[in-house]
Amino acid sequence: MTETNRIRNPALRSKIMTAQQAAALIPKGSNVGMSGFTGAGYPKVVPLALAERMNAAHAGGETFRIGVWTGASTAPELDGALAKVDGMEMRLPYQSDPTCRKRINAGEMEYLDIHLSHVAQFVWGGFLGKLDVAIVEVAAIREDGALIPSSSVGNNKTWLDCAGKVILEVNSWQNIALKGMHDVYYGTQLPPHRKPIPIVTASDRIGDAYLHCDPAKIIAVVETNAPDRNSAFSPPDENSRLIAEHILDFFGHEVKMGRLPKELLPLQSGVGNVANAVMEQLQGAPYDNLTAYTEVLQDGMFNLLRSGKMSFASATALSLSPDAAHEFNRDAAKYRDKIVLRPQEISNHPEVIRRLGVIAMNGLIEADIYGNVNSTHIRGSSIMNGIGGSGDFARNAWLSIFMTPSSAKNGQISCIVPMVTHVDHTEHDVQVVVTEQGLADLRGLSPKKRAEVVIENCAHPIFKPALTEYFERARRYSPGQHTPHILDEAFTFLPNWQANREARDAWKEDSVVQADAWK
Ligand code: COA
Repeated sequence: MTETNRIRNPALRSKIMTAQQAAALIPKGSNVGMSGFTGAGYPKVVPLALAERMNAAHAGGETFRIGVWTGASTAPELDGALAKVDGMEMRLPYQSDPTCRKRINAGEMEYLDIHLSHVAQFVWGGFLGKLDVAIVEVAAIREDGALIPSSSVGNNKTWLDCAGKVILEVNSWQNIALKGMHDVYYGTQLPPHRKPIPIVTASDRIGDAYLHCDPAKIIAVVETNAPDRNSAFSPPDENSRLIAEHILDFFGHEVKMGRLPKELLPLQSGVGNVANAVMEQLQGAPYDNLTAYTEVLQDGMFNLLRSGKMSFASATALSLSPDAAHEFNRDAAKYRDKIVLRPQEISNHPEVIRRLGVIAMNGLIEADIYGNVNSTHIRGSSIMNGIGGSGDFARNAWLSIFMTPSSAKNGQISCIVPMVTHVDHTEHDVQVVVTEQGLADLRGLSPKKRAEVVIENCAHPIFKPALTEYFERARRYSPGQHTPHILDEAFTFLPNWQANREARDAWKEDSVVQADAWK
């Protein structure tokens, strides 16, 4: 298909216009649902044109901001551009853009960090207010008006169903062979009319290959030819390699114990470098016919599909580095029977995750000695990215694994702390914590036993004496001995450790003095 014959519906062809003309149709103060899930399938030109309009308005002393709802994080042409011109009053449900992050943490922009599987039902239920406009990237428009989705599905079905007005971007960079790779389920209902979601294996198709939209709502169609944009992943470092090794040993043990089948169970792998590195390591592991029921398909998983180690992956978005995206785009047709892209309320559906027995592997910022996990906040108050789909998976998975290097910022910060400064995943949702130091299998352990295993197996040796000393004193002085804590000290552990450089340096020279430095 050439660029223009990707829009085959005559009525919609008559609505083709420039990005600037389309952006002029978006009222200030409106809530806008944008496609996009990571740097895949987001609108590439209308948000940029809108940012220009906002900038001009702000220069003239007029305020022009909107509410931005997406699938998840997007890319510089969307989140970056709108945040730069201070164009977002409110953003949901997940972001990872540095300018956005800065504005949110400076209190200049509201941010609603929601479980990704909840967003659609919040919109259907009217909890988030009115959705005024949708801007959705598609790969093509068929003669009958059906829409061939792009490289992510995310919340697009919901935006197209619920928005008052719709702007479509038709991106001819997206390979038309994406057609048939999507499975858009139109059977979800609000309670009390819900029926089971009929997925029993990761590869089941239960919906439609196309998105649908009332043509009367479509106010503009904009043609683009622009690549998806995800950052490249860092090559797996020594820590990631060790984390992956511990996880693979653990899988081996679970298979031996008869608790996992030899092809494992459907894998979910979270965002970020560590999660990607673990997938890369599976390449050399003795498992075949792997499957995935996940949210994002990153390079590591794509390589497993390419090599044939993984037979099928269900996701909501391709989240590929520029090189991998290029590779996928060249050969998209080859992957049509290996990948399915679903709406995020289905890719992250608790019922399906529980039924399939997913193995969930997600990153964290800090875990506490009892296994509570903070995935989102630095020192309890500054957002990093957001919870994303980690909660959808962690609570409902067969195995819920959280992984992290044991320390951050060149060893200045322990990622294992007495008490997390913000809780995303409670101890009840966390079964395994793993760092480059080792793996803590917390299943079946009471809180005090969990603390012993987390400190022993996961803490960095430089922080281990201080954590042990905190726990031992808590065991003596805490008023409650179920989950012993010294609340006055729980959050000063890190600042004190950092302030006490003298003791730390002394420890480096002679580890014996370290324990005393904490008394
Ligand atoms: N204190 C301060 N900074 C910390 C930290 C801590 N305890 N732990 C990590 N960081 C910083 C790192 O230094 C790094 O900073 P940099 O970007 O300036 O180098 C950054 O956080 C990312 O950490 P990294 O170790 O490279 O891990 P990652 O890329 O695997 O990301 C999360 C880890 C937690 C940020 C990421 O997994 C995330 O956003 N998770 C929440 C959403 C999620 O799980 N989605 C998946 C659902 S499908």
